[in-house]
Amino acid sequence: MIPIAKPIIGKEEEEALLEVISSGMLVQGPRVREFEARFAELCGVEHAVATSSGTTALHIAVLAHQIGPSDEVITSPFSFIASANCALYVGARPVFVDIEPDFFTIDPTKIEERITKKTKAIIPIHLYGQACDMDAIVDIAQRHNLAIIEDACQAHGATYKGRPIGSFGTACYSLYATKNMTTIEGGMILTNESQVADRARLIRNHGSPKTYEHTMLGYNMRMTDLVAAIGLVQLKKLKEWNSIRRANAAYLTENLSKIKGIATPKVRDNVEHVFHQYTIRISDRDNSAQKLKEKGVGVGVHYPTPIHHQPLYQELGYTDVLPVAEAASREVLSLPVHPSLTKDELDTIVDAVASL
Ligand SMILES: Cc1ncc(COP(=O)(O)O)c(C=O)c1O
Repeated sequence: MIPIAKPIIGKEEEEALLEVISSGMLVQGPRVREFEARFAELCGVEHAVATSSGTTALHIAVLAHQIGPSDEVITSPFSFIASANCALYVGARPVFVDIEPDFFTIDPTKIEERITKKTKAIIPIHLYGQACDMDAIVDIAQRHNLAIIEDACQAHGATYKGRPIGSFGTACYSLYATKNMTTIEGGMILTNESQVADRARLIRNHGSPKTYEHTMLGYNMRMTDLVAAIGLVQLKKLKEWNSIRRANAAYLTENLSKIKGIATPKVRDNVEHVFHQYTIRISDRDNSAQKLKEKGVGVGVHYPTPIHHQPLYQELGYTDVLPVAEAASREVLSLPVHPSLTKDELDTIVDAVASL
């Protein structure tokens, strides 16, 4: 089976890990600080705060922006659930705005009608590795005095009009095993606001500016030096891996766009897509997914249920009708695009899709 994702972790990561173990500095020590500095450089941002996961990065970011009970945040329903749950964690309400018909990202033309006095932030999600329409989102945020918390969990190294994703507001990354780069589990917050960075550092570590002094409510959401050492090795390879992902995606699109009944992913003008996922639209999706698996092609559905239709959100009383996201949930199918694919495997994927 050609896997849908394949983490690349080898000798260099192993050696980095062993070095940390023998150093005795295991948690939030020099490797974490170095990893934060390098990650901030990647996006040209001043502050980076490493966390235990993408979910905790989002949770901390929302808290650090002082969003809380009775506040609202605007986000897309077409994502992994953590993109919206970060608002629920702090007692705020996620307000969903449909996605663009051509892309899988929040539709800026529909944001303003959902802004109320309670709205505090927009959480745009750079889904599958492609930037949202950031000019329009930044314009709306500025006019309504809203924070931007980018969910960049799938977009390491992506750019928008030459500017790195992650530099438009406060940004959150996941470093989970299947991401474009990984620390196995891990996350990162980027921001140019020093107050947000200071609060994030405190929240991550029990609100503790120094040992056994606690100035605010915080959690244990720290990154270990062990995984930061892996992250430092991975970060050096990210650019190359992303360009292989882009080349794989171009090959798939060149061959699959000729096939009737399949819509290959569209790339926005002036963005550098990093193809965390290569996601086509196809009718009879579930049957097609089954047939592809039988032909040895691992596939994924990102995501079969839009967040507002999840049982958790139904229980919370969400009744939104968001037709573009709902149609996408029925039609999307992700094919392998990861950097370890061989030319033969790419051809196997193309042939398998062509034979559906
Ligand atoms: C868009 C998005 N947001 C948030 C997350 C949460 O990240 P993590 O799994 O590292 O907690 C993910 C990870 O799957 C994601 O894809």
